[in-house]
Amino acid sequence: MSHQPTILSTCDAAYQAVREFQRAGKRVGLVPTMGALHAGHLSLVEASNRRCDATIATIFVNPTQFGPQEDLDCYPRTLAEDLTALGTLGVPFVFVPTADEMYPADFSTYVEPPAVALPLEGTMRETHFRGVTTVVLKLFHALPADVAFFGQKDYQQALVIQRMVSDLNVPIAIEVCPIVREPDGLAMSSRNVYLDPEQRQRALSLSRSLQVADEMARAGECDAQKIADHMRQHMLSSQVDQVDYAVIADPESLQEVSQLNGSAVALVAARVGNTRLIDNAVLG
Ligand code: PAJ
Repeated sequence: MSHQPTILSTCDAAYQAVREFQRAGKRVGLVPTMGALHAGHLSLVEASNRRCDATIATIFVNPTQFGPQEDLDCYPRTLAEDLTALGTLGVPFVFVPTADEMYPADFSTYVEPPAVALPLEGTMRETHFRGVTTVVLKLFHALPADVAFFGQKDYQQALVIQRMVSDLNVPIAIEVCPIVREPDGLAMSSRNVYLDPEQRQRALSLSRSLQVADEMARAGECDAQKIADHMRQHMLSSQVDQVDYAVIADPESLQEVSQLNGSAVALVAARVGNTRLIDNAVLG
């Protein structure tokens, strides 16, 4: 039996809902999202259901993490379907604040992101992580859950949030869950709906370039620059419109490495038409 979740629209109501579960001795899991839910998001809810007694999701298209030229206005919004999907997984409450609830007119405090926010997405999207750290810290305060679940799909974001929680002593455990992919390998993303069939085909080159990297690493290639060059070449030859980056980096600091010894992460970002896509894979 599934029930439609109750929508909570104020921070006070969200806080009370979490505290009420905790007063009853229940462990609360939090799954922050921007909605347009797909199987990747739902895998976080399932992970939370396994680890916690109650899961609360949030749906908020956070304006402060979008740049002026980005897709805030056309970002997909599918609230009715999202609520049904969350209800099917037994989520009792969904926090769906308005922009005014999160950012009243006199709002002026932002969280300065940690150093790991500087490379990669940080250079491409200047104020993005400041928006993410600010909204996520606000969500953690409004919904003081025991555990919060994030996806490896946004590898750098997960590191940024783990570092913020550690640096600022936020009393919440962070769990990072594996990337959920389409059968052909494309990483699930709310932005995939922007792709027409021809672009959807070209978008496969991100995950395929990561497979190239993985195969090279498995075959014993240790020259990280050579692997990164192959990833870039693969994406260009399969006609992405622009490669923003293709790097092999240290899995904790995200600094590029020159040699593959121990574990490393391959990260790519590319544009297909007007759509910007990211993907990554841990090597070794
Ligand atoms: P959003 O893009 O909606 O993603 C919400 C969560 O789902 C993130 O933790 C993201 O990494 C995870 N996710 C997305 N696609 C996934 C996939 N294919 N497999 C596994 N997990 C996936 O990330 C955000 O929203 C926002 O920045 C947010 C953290 C909510 C702050 O506004």
